[in-house]
Amino acid sequence: MRVPVGIIGAGPAGLFLSHLLHRKGVESVVLERRDRAYCERRQRAGVVEHGVAEALRASGAGERMDREGFVHDGIELRFGGRGHRVDFPGLAGRHVLVYAQTEIVKDLIARRLADGGRLLFEAEATAIEGIDTARPRIRFTHGGADGVVECDHVVACDGFHGIGRASLPAGALTTFEKAYPFSWLGILADAAPTSDELIYVHHPNGFALHSMRSPAVSRLYLQVPNGTDPADWPDERIWAELATRSRLDGGGETVNRGTITDKGITPMRSFVAEPMRHGALFLAGDAAHIVPPTGAKGLNLAMHDVMLLAEALGAWHATGATALLDAYSATALRRVWRAQHFSSWMTSLLHTDPSGTEFDRRLQTSHLEHIAGSRAVSTYVAENYTGLPRV
Ligand code: FAD
Ligand code: DHB
Repeated sequence: MRVPVGIIGAGPAGLFLSHLLHRKGVESVVLERRDRAYCERRQRAGVVEHGVAEALRASGAGERMDREGFVHDGIELRFGGRGHRVDFPGLAGRHVLVYAQTEIVKDLIARRLADGGRLLFEAEATAIEGIDTARPRIRFTHGGADGVVECDHVVACDGFHGIGRASLPAGALTTFEKAYPFSWLGILADAAPTSDELIYVHHPNGFALHSMRSPAVSRLYLQVPNGTDPADWPDERIWAELATRSRLDGGGETVNRGTITDKGITPMRSFVAEPMRHGALFLAGDAAHIVPPTGAKGLNLAMHDVMLLAEALGAWHATGATALLDAYSATALRRVWRAQHFSSWMTSLLHTDPSGTEFDRRLQTSHLEHIAGSRAVSTYVAENYTGLPRV
């Protein structure tokens, strides 16, 4: 098969890139090793930055997001039994949308198929060849047969464990990494959200997060030790721990209970691979970088990467200009490092480090109180959380 752009991975990055390229008249093929139902079911992120929502809307793929997503004008930071609101429009002039990654993926798959896009599920890319030439190839298997995509550019949107990053020659990449001494236990529950806005809780027992998927479905997270087996967290223990960590001075119900329909563990990692391009191969999204989820940046960074790539590949196809393609890695990495800093900062601000000292805990409390009392520091949170227009 001969196509201008070969894309590996039908996560949000690969699908949005394929959609944006189509709108510029550049055709692509997306190879995805999982089946469609799996891609549409996988529970992940839930917060869409202002600018990413605008980009989805401008591309004609935001209609259901605008109908069913929720505009959020703030978050609550809860610690010491009290809540402190960070007001996004007042501090940063922007908001976020709460609209699940699974829904974005469903919308983009439906749109690509309606537009006649080539989207192959259960098609696993097995090798990327010729990236130092003008005719790179992706080898793949599909329905028991071997296939090959011949293209001008390959974009690996194949997540952290994909083959894109692994296909670069030895020594071409420098990687930067940080591990955290905790993970998140995430649940989906048939329960009305406790609050209209997301609540980020710091408690001596650990972090907790209240989020939502609909007026009847809550998405909740608890900090747990690395290596935790979800079987050690029966439903009753989860609800009791959420209630303990979320308790407010003055009492009252702090979490609405309901049937738990999904339970999973997410390890926390910061990771960056530089540069994000080698010859004809480009890395985008989780294939190039991972952030701990506390700042809600993973999905948004993936979308920003492919927005840059769509412009760059569009310009190359329209005029042969290479300037934007050449600038891609450096431009994307500026936002990646800003998000790395914010995500790591939010993570250490809100989690309880199991090996932390009382000194560390006092510093954390002082920092949280400073945010609650300072317009300048709250503005820092609001600007980064809602997404910086330019980095
Ligand atoms: P992905 O969504 O990972 O998509 C990559 C795709 O490539 C997958 O569909 C995969 O099957 C496919 N693929 C891989 N290898 C091949 C191959 N060889 N051939 C063909 N296809 C291949 N972010 C947040 O902000 N908040 C969260 O709460 C949050 N929770 C998360 C929970 C989990 C378990 C994970 C893994 C991530 C979470 N993230 C979260 C991060 C966020 O979901 C990711 O940043 C986002 O999915 C990145 O999108 P992507 O398109 O780059 O990669
Ligand atoms: C969600 C996930 C996050 O990592 C976050 O910071 C906020 C919300 C969510 O899944 O809804």
